[in-house]
Amino acid sequence: MSLFITFEGPDGSGKSSQIAKLTKYLEDNGYSVINTREPGGTSIGNQIRDIVLKSENTEMHQRAEILLFQASRAQLVEQVIRPHLEKGGVVLCDRYADSTLAYQGYGYGRDIHELRAIINFATGGLKPDLTLLLDVDVKIGLARRREGGDVNRLDIFELTFHQNVRQGYHQLAQAEPQRWVTIDAGQPTERVQRRIRKIILERLRAQE
Ligand code: TYD
Repeated sequence: MSLFITFEGPDGSGKSSQIAKLTKYLEDNGYSVINTREPGGTSIGNQIRDIVLKSENTEMHQRAEILLFQASRAQLVEQVIRPHLEKGGVVLCDRYADSTLAYQGYGYGRDIHELRAIINFATGGLKPDLTLLLDVDVKIGLARRREGGDVNRLDIFELTFHQNVRQGYHQLAQAEPQRWVTIDAGQPTERVQRRIRKIILERLRAQE
């Protein structure tokens, strides 16, 4: 039994703290879990992360940005995700291919089909079994980020960009309802965590 679960959502949707809690919960219940993130998750990926998210890199061309995200992803898939799935483990990934479709596709307005081809090359065709969309109002999400002081190069883009990203996520989720579950991440943290656990335990038990 293996399960590849990705978490998506606008900036400040609280994904990373929810994933950290979920990881501990699943480990306490005997599952072999890897918690990773994009961009990053490997030594090479973390070096790419620095380049792609650094606020000073304002001259970065969109095509360069797209390819950097895919390079980090390719390394993560081959070095971390695929090996753990082959051992029958659970992989929780904070962002994956759908982030490229939402941000570079719907956010920038770039061709979705072209992006899908590049993503397919980067991932070797590996798709998540389940994707949770932690959906939150864009203004609330960005305000949370600013409070945390953790602002990256994309966070400072205008509000319309982030609204397009969120709309993009809604479209992606509607197009593939068997893979996506949307969660209202504006609710209290504990309630969001309970909902996530319920969904994931159902999937895990269905496989046992
Ligand atoms: P991060 O600080 O990890 O944000 P978050 O906590 O919201 O996940 O930064 C990742 C940023 O990179 C985020 O703004 C989304 C963006 N991103 C893309 O634009 N395309 C991608 O393919 C990926 C993986 C991330």
